[in-house]
Amino acid sequence: MDYKSYIAERLAAEGVSAREIAESIAVPPDPAMGDFALPCFKFAKVMRKSPVAIAEELKNAYPTDEVIGEVSAVNGYLNFKVNRRGLAEDVLLRIFKEGARYGASDLGAGKTVCIDYSSVNIAKPFHIGHLSTTVLGGALYRIFNFLGYHAVGINHLGDYGTQFGKLISAYKRWGKKDEVEKGGIHAINALYVRFNEEADEEMEREARENFRLIESGDKEANELFEWFKSLTLAYVKTIYERLHITFDSYLGERFYTDKMQPVVDELKEKGLLKESEGAQIVDLEPYGMPPCLILRSDGASLYATRDLAAAIYRKNTYDFDKCLYVVAYQQNLHFKQFFKVLELMGKEWAKDLVHIAYGMVSLEDGAMSTRKGKVVWLEDVITKCVEKAYAVIDEKNSALENKREVAEKVGVGAVVFGALYNNKIKDITFSYDKALNFDGETSVYVQYTCARAASVLAKARAEGYAWSAEDVSEPCPQEFELLKALGEFPEIVRAAAEKYEPSYVARFCVDSAQKFNKFYFDCKILQAEEGVRAFRLALTEATLTVLTNALTLLGIGVPEKM
Ligand code: ARG
Repeated sequence: MDYKSYIAERLAAEGVSAREIAESIAVPPDPAMGDFALPCFKFAKVMRKSPVAIAEELKNAYPTDEVIGEVSAVNGYLNFKVNRRGLAEDVLLRIFKEGARYGASDLGAGKTVCIDYSSVNIAKPFHIGHLSTTVLGGALYRIFNFLGYHAVGINHLGDYGTQFGKLISAYKRWGKKDEVEKGGIHAINALYVRFNEEADEEMEREARENFRLIESGDKEANELFEWFKSLTLAYVKTIYERLHITFDSYLGERFYTDKMQPVVDELKEKGLLKESEGAQIVDLEPYGMPPCLILRSDGASLYATRDLAAAIYRKNTYDFDKCLYVVAYQQNLHFKQFFKVLELMGKEWAKDLVHIAYGMVSLEDGAMSTRKGKVVWLEDVITKCVEKAYAVIDEKNSALENKREVAEKVGVGAVVFGALYNNKIKDITFSYDKALNFDGETSVYVQYTCARAASVLAKARAEGYAWSAEDVSEPCPQEFELLKALGEFPEIVRAAAEKYEPSYVARFCVDSAQKFNKFYFDCKILQAEEGVRAFRLALTEATLTVLTNALTLLGIGVPEKM
């Protein structure tokens, strides 16, 4: 039951739609106030009455029933108390019926959302800076799919540019086939770094020539390039697997090589292209932005040119309803510029392109900082977190089976959750110890809560108890708060998609886990009398189902035992 809509539909207010009312309804921080509350201040202007008068009037008109039993007006707020048993029946039934699909919907049926995320650069480190784009994008991908959209995950590979010429030069000078084969991306990156340190003018010239060879289709240069690419992809895929990240397309920047000329032609045709110091640009001064560079004076294309071609290609290929770009806020201007250029080209769908900007992640731990000129590889952060998780688990419960497996779920989960827990635009400092705190606002706290619920259920089964969604009795306050939270999940998932904020789901996890633990410590589950026990076991199972669904959406595994 969507209580907010239920209430809103029964509140006829002049000049205000039910949807607007539903969106204004909130859950008061103090449950004593009511289960839902509508602040009436917002409506004072349209209705030309004081909020206090509006609340009073709406209260008198509201038809209470078996769903909403009580309405009161307090200081301009309209407070609603729901029938607690009715809510319990409703929420439990739905969770038991829908199981792993609880929270899912067909809201997005027939709609396609392209999501450009992670978008790694070939032969460059896959570093801590890629964490947020990878896990935010991965979470959005799952959330949109869960809501019935057709999500298309795109890894827009950075596989274009003069650096590949440099890499070929470096390899030809210093590289050994078997060493590179063995060392993979680390070996390639070392060659690249060495080239940049040692290159003189002659070497730079040679690198440009090698790049030209790739471009002109030279066989040897292209074989080397493809080799470097496959080594990079093999490497990043091992990390994607650990993070539960998948893509539908790995079409990188290079794919658009032959698709840029038509864009340039179209820009010219539409009178948008201008020459400036030998380069071809689109003037964006009227929109308060620097010009968007399309072709350099030597005729070379730019990042924006390839993004223009890619957006058009995606529209033609997927006919998306939205195309999201999960990229750090440092590229704000780039996205504003090329979105504007598409709009000027008359692409009405330019409005459907969304830059999902996010803040920076840095490490609290100074030992692995970028200050020493060393890049922090994402893999090292994950590995270190898993090791630390192992140590914590071993200390807490050294007899646990599958400690390695559990540590992988806990450690990876901590890194992922660390990047997803805060509003995405915030800069964050990752701390291993905080992320692995069993009592913090952490994934391990949520995972531990799941294991606790699973263990209660296992014990109950062993003792021969049975329960179902029908085993409902009048909920006590702890049970009721938990049920209310679980009942909000479908709406949380919808809001997370609408605002592109997986953090809503992460916060939901912590909030519900806290409510479960309050219930667990305050109410006896297994020792309760028979009818109440069955209800509490059903509630325990429902909690486990919903938390599992939520963590899965974030890409975090749920250990059965901890
Ligand atoms: N590879 C780029 C970088 O590391 C990110 C690409 C983002 N996607 C895009 N369509 N521009 O900065």
